[in-house]
Amino acid sequence: MIGLDRAIQTKKLNRTGYLNNSYVVRQAQGFQWWNELSSQEKMHLVEQVTALDLKFASELFDNYARKAAQAPKHKLVPPKVKTIPKTISEMENVRIAKQMGECSLRNGEVAVVTVAGGDGTRLGCNGPKGTLPIAPVSGKSIFHLHAEKICAIQQRYHTNIPWYIMTSKTNSLPTQDFFKTHHYFGLNPGQIRFFTQGMLPVLDLNGKLLMNSKSNIVMSPNGHGGLITALKDAGILNDMKIRRIKHVFYHQVDNVLAKIADPVFIGYHLMEDADMSLKVVKKRHHEEKVGIVGCVDGKLQVVEYSELSREDMYAKNGDGSLKYNAGNIAIHMIGIDFIEKACQRREEMLPYHAAIKKVPYIDKHGNMINPEKNNAIKFECFIFDMLKHAEKSVIMEVSREEEFSPVKNREGEDSPDTAVRDMVNVFGKWLHSAGISTPMDCHGNVDGLIEINPSFALDEEALRDKIYNKQLQHDGFLYLE
Ligand code: UTP
Repeated sequence: MIGLDRAIQTKKLNRTGYLNNSYVVRQAQGFQWWNELSSQEKMHLVEQVTALDLKFASELFDNYARKAAQAPKHKLVPPKVKTIPKTISEMENVRIAKQMGECSLRNGEVAVVTVAGGDGTRLGCNGPKGTLPIAPVSGKSIFHLHAEKICAIQQRYHTNIPWYIMTSKTNSLPTQDFFKTHHYFGLNPGQIRFFTQGMLPVLDLNGKLLMNSKSNIVMSPNGHGGLITALKDAGILNDMKIRRIKHVFYHQVDNVLAKIADPVFIGYHLMEDADMSLKVVKKRHHEEKVGIVGCVDGKLQVVEYSELSREDMYAKNGDGSLKYNAGNIAIHMIGIDFIEKACQRREEMLPYHAAIKKVPYIDKHGNMINPEKNNAIKFECFIFDMLKHAEKSVIMEVSREEEFSPVKNREGEDSPDTAVRDMVNVFGKWLHSAGISTPMDCHGNVDGLIEINPSFALDEEALRDKIYNKQLQHDGFLYLE
């Protein structure tokens, strides 16, 4: 303990100051092992403590305790959604939006931001989630699939799309190594920039630090909303301005069906001169665990599943459909000016939320505990909290089957198996629309494995143009590249 004190004093402390860190020393039982640690472990622990902002963490904990005592109250109203086009005039609108989006892409105004800093705890894969092999036939990784889409869009619109990838301190190096080993998947290394988000300590339910080894304080990334601070701090916002980027296409690494830099979505966002826009899908059923978009006291907001009252969850329209049916799939267009505004008003626009989780830790005897019940609080901010500060937004409904299949869990719903199934079904649908039949099983899924490389066809229309009326027969196993 004294050793640590001295070590801290001899190190220049950054913004937290010694006062806060002495609080760490007092409160964390974990430092009792100081004398057992190697010099490398001591250095690691000192670095962690040096970077900790304990005063901030304890403020977050106090806030959490205060909020937990108040039940959330919302006065919800369904939002205005651009639904999937059915009429001729709606189709015409899509055509105009697409043209506007294409023009913006050609002018090099759009950058892609992929958030990939999450821990991927539920999936528990060995390495960053984006490195997971997932493509149905080739087994390419999630990152590889995203890269190929970006490459295909660049070729189609004769443009250059800067790609910014947010990682966390934990997965930054393995992510960058993966890209290097795979030669940046054919993209120009200069167009890709990695940056890391902030981390916060994980606290136990009494507000104390947790350790998962004798020399490591449990930390976790500060949520996808941490993007905004990270963009500023890492100089990315500046880089975007230098490259004359005006709008950011934001998506999460784990949605394998994300239509990256979708020109229709970009166009809708531009048409309305929106600050921040989002894509939604219809909820599967009342209790699906997805955040819904609604107007709360006149402001657009994503209401988390856990915060939706039972009454609102089951509320119906006159025709029997769900009243609050717009499920957020975390795909956004965000204007650079709006990002700038959020940087300036970060605390107001991106509040921290507490998530109660099961987190392994060591007890006072140094034994590893894998808790069966929730034992810890992680603090995260959410990108969608910015929505209520946007003056204008577009909510675009898209087909879940075509655009949303996240890899969250090891098995079951939203797992690698469902991601492969959903990709294969999309490709089967494209083939069908190009006049090529595909065997189906009794559940309506393609019976086989199909993969279509974005450089062969980026979308249904492109595939139709390429192979319509060609005699292409297959038995359910097909790889077009
Ligand atoms: P999730 O919270 O759904 O997934 O984040 P996760 O963090 O990968 O996995 P769990 O919750 O630990 O099982 C949704 C998206 O937001 C990114 C993730 O990488 C994923 O793309 N994210 C999440 C961040 O970039 N940073 C974070 O702090 C949290």
